[in-house]
Amino acid sequence: MKVLITGSTGMLGSDCKKVFSKKYEVIAPTREEMDIRKWDKVIEVIQKNSPDVVVNCAAFTDVDACETERKIAQKINIEGARNLAQVCARFECKIVHISSDYVFDGKKPIPQPYFEDDEPNPLSFYGKTKAESEKAVINNIDDYIIIRTGWLYGINGKNFVKWVIKKAVNGEKLTVVYDQYGSPTWTYRVALQIIVLLEKKMTGIFHVTSEGYCNRLEWAEFILNHLGLSAPIEKISMKEWNPPAKRPVNCLLENKELKIHRLNIMRKWKEDMKEFLDIYGARLIKEAKEES
Ligand SMILES: NC(=O)c1ccc[n+]([C@@H]2O[C@H](COP(=O)([O-])OP(=O)(O)OC[C@H]3O[C@@H](n4cnc5c(N)ncnc54)[C@H](OP(=O)(O)O)[C@@H]3O)[C@@H](O)[C@H]2O)c1
Repeated sequence: MKVLITGSTGMLGSDCKKVFSKKYEVIAPTREEMDIRKWDKVIEVIQKNSPDVVVNCAAFTDVDACETERKIAQKINIEGARNLAQVCARFECKIVHISSDYVFDGKKPIPQPYFEDDEPNPLSFYGKTKAESEKAVINNIDDYIIIRTGWLYGINGKNFVKWVIKKAVNGEKLTVVYDQYGSPTWTYRVALQIIVLLEKKMTGIFHVTSEGYCNRLEWAEFILNHLGLSAPIEKISMKEWNPPAKRPVNCLLENKELKIHRLNIMRKWKEDMKEFLDIYGARLIKEAKEES
């Protein structure tokens, strides 16, 4: 199988590139080589390479910046997804598109999770673009997989785990919310789950997050404890935090479709978090020290 990955310099895309390369032929154009906003470029690269599958990990992911940079967010997240879906349909290529827990409003009481067939009702402009990106895919191609995930961490790219380590290493105070709930999810595991879905030739929307859940404060404490780090922590509520983009309080997604089809390989969040920190913790601490 030949797989073309967009966004392969990002957090999820880089793990997809690494994991898929062990099994498939992988083409990973950079943004310069294939800007997904440019229809002509998308046609040219896909026609030239004729992949069997396109995995779209490219997106404008800065949730707060999306509030002010609306045109760019719309172009990359919605029009980019539409371009890829239309071109994939034309060349009979499957598309895997990555969406987000932020398509939901998070108003269900904890610990009630969101299911694949729950109605999206995004709070932020980023969430709106991700909800629209799903429609842009569904309306333009039949052979699609949409993955909704959230609270991602991985070795590449910016993420909460790196932020916590950096703050602690620098002896800075961590200001963390105690009332936003989600399931920390390793990008490496998501990549493996995508392979399972591809091998079984599945189509449709799939929630893909780790099993179990925590709040952000518990996540931060888990990272610090496991690495033997310490830092002063200021515990605040979502209301006190008040970032530019509104975020859902409840980010819990149930992998219902994966479970119905007996395809769920996602592990408990603590198991994956421990494995990730055992492999990369020392390196991340070293990098944080070097940067400070
Ligand atoms: N991070 C999370 O916690 C999270 C949660 C839920 C869902 N998601 C979704 O998961 C996916 C991957 O997220 P991530 O955190 O891995 O993203 P990321 O690290 O921010 O990487 C984004 C990637 O997209 C590329 N890109 C941006 N604009 C592009 C364009 N116009 N054309 C081609 N490539 C472009 C970037 O390339 P450059 O490096 O050249 O800029 C980068 O490789 C996204 O769809 C995101 O919405 C993420």
